[in-house]
Amino acid sequence: MVEKTALGAQTFLFPMPAVVVGVMVNNRPNFMTVAWTGMACAQPPMLSMAVRKQRFTYEGLTIHGLFSVNVPKVEHAEWVDYFGIVSGREEDKTSRAGIDVMYRDGHEAPMIAQCPVNLMCRVEQMTTLGTHDLIVGQIVQTYVDEDCLVRGVPDVSKIDPLVYATGRKTYHGLGATVAKAYRVGLSLRSKKPE
Ligand SMILES: Cc1cc2nc3c(=O)[nH]c(=O)nc-3n(C[C@H](O)[C@H](O)[C@H](O)COP(=O)(O)O)c2cc1C
Repeated sequence: MVEKTALGAQTFLFPMPAVVVGVMVNNRPNFMTVAWTGMACAQPPMLSMAVRKQRFTYEGLTIHGLFSVNVPKVEHAEWVDYFGIVSGREEDKTSRAGIDVMYRDGHEAPMIAQCPVNLMCRVEQMTTLGTHDLIVGQIVQTYVDEDCLVRGVPDVSKIDPLVYATGRKTYHGLGATVAKAYRVGLSLRSKKPE
């Protein structure tokens, strides 16, 4: 057995996605990096994210109730990090990052054209947990770059998403495919328990 060190109550979940959340605040687009996010429900499709109340983005979430979740590529690490260390209260992050902001289907939340996956979401619930509010959003539309689809299904190696690792606070890419999900575990069903 490997020796374990108890580190107390920590937020060490590995890995985390590094996504960029887009909202309108004071009539201009604002983007913020979020790592504490995940899927929450299949039907209706919902996701969750943890956002501190003091974020400029939080104002856009409460006022408009609409936000985008943009999945950046590994090559976008520089502006993803910038969106996470500077507040929209201090400067117009959008123009400095050199990204292309896009709007679709009359939705008023800004999206990032360079991100291969964009999820348009409507705020469903906001619950104060402590330092962070848990925001639950319903996904109302999904946009994916055509060259990231294989027979209509998003391909993660083409998307090449940026991954965040808490603890040492580093960005990563995905490694190689390890196995097929819902398949590789089936072999254990026919194996005798030890
Ligand atoms: C990698 C990374 C992940 C982050 N994840 C979160 C998060 O999940 N929730 C949060 O409230 N802030 C998070 N932040 C901090 C915000 O992105 C940061 O405070 C940002 O400047 C807020 O921008 P705004 O004030 O324009 O909304 C993260 C920052 C980085 C660099």
